[in-house]
Amino acid sequence: MTDLKKYTVAASGKMRKVAYDKLNSDVNLLAWQHSGRMPAEQFDEWLSKADALYSAANIKIDENLLNKAPRLKVIAQAAVGYDNIDVAACTARGIVVGHTPGVLDDAVADLAYGLIIDSARHLVRGSEHVHSGRWGEHKGLGLGCDLARKTLGIIGMGNIGSAIVPRARASKMRIIYHNRHRRADDGKLGAEYAGFEVLLEQADFIVITATLNPSTKGMFDAEAFKRMKKTAAIINVGRGAIVDTDALYDALATGEIAYAAFDVTDPEPLPGDHKLLTLDNITVTPHMASATVETRDAMALLTVENILAGLMDLPLPVQVPDQWVNA
Ligand code: DGY
Repeated sequence: MTDLKKYTVAASGKMRKVAYDKLNSDVNLLAWQHSGRMPAEQFDEWLSKADALYSAANIKIDENLLNKAPRLKVIAQAAVGYDNIDVAACTARGIVVGHTPGVLDDAVADLAYGLIIDSARHLVRGSEHVHSGRWGEHKGLGLGCDLARKTLGIIGMGNIGSAIVPRARASKMRIIYHNRHRRADDGKLGAEYAGFEVLLEQADFIVITATLNPSTKGMFDAEAFKRMKKTAAIINVGRGAIVDTDALYDALATGEIAYAAFDVTDPEPLPGDHKLLTLDNITVTPHMASATVETRDAMALLTVENILAGLMDLPLPVQVPDQWVNA
């Protein structure tokens, strides 16, 4: 039985209580438990001693950070996305990297579906209208549109995209999707494969669930927005940088597309005085798609399992796909 107490685990940010309690009892845990931001020097000092890093996905994990953490053997991030981590640099140092796919699919799909409905029915605008005290005034909000019989285009038909399908089917939508490769099971899933340009031209609603990588970065540029229907809406729960923010602003401001509902943005956080927020045809939520008690607890516990396995030189329950397998 490995004596785990000899290992030090540093946490980059606030941890769910379930994760804190478990790690605190098993290992030497260094986690900021006070209010306010953890001082950078404090984190650097913890990194110098850490055998494992619990990443709350709030930091860039690059050569600069790795140089401060010479003992690290495992990094576990409480998120499915890991575009903030230089995986190649970790691999070169023999550091195994874990993440948390699978446990957040329903929560993210729920928020994506909510944003699709908001794009069609202007829930946020409606609430703002009432809050402004103008309910009953002649100028209303204008009419929304039905989801039934509209086409939903999903960019990135992975676990989250697949979880959106039954929700959209409940609204009687037709579903098309685009991936680098067509899925063999798409008939069973109830979605038709489409080339990127065909999807842009046919979809009434486009939802992005893809991961950020060199082939998806800036995928939605001015050219892509020009190909979309003028009545179309775009929803992003993937990563902000998949969309060119200036091109999005222009497309919304000039009526090239009708609406956007984004949970992720570039930059992130989006400053309160950002030009996107001057538009009245966009909803922005603060990267909260996985932010439910159940899901965040499940993500935190999977992160702990990844850390403990890595410390014991066991295969991680979920290692990032583009790394050797730690077996
Ligand atoms: C993740 O875990 O990467 C997602 O962004 C959660 O919303």
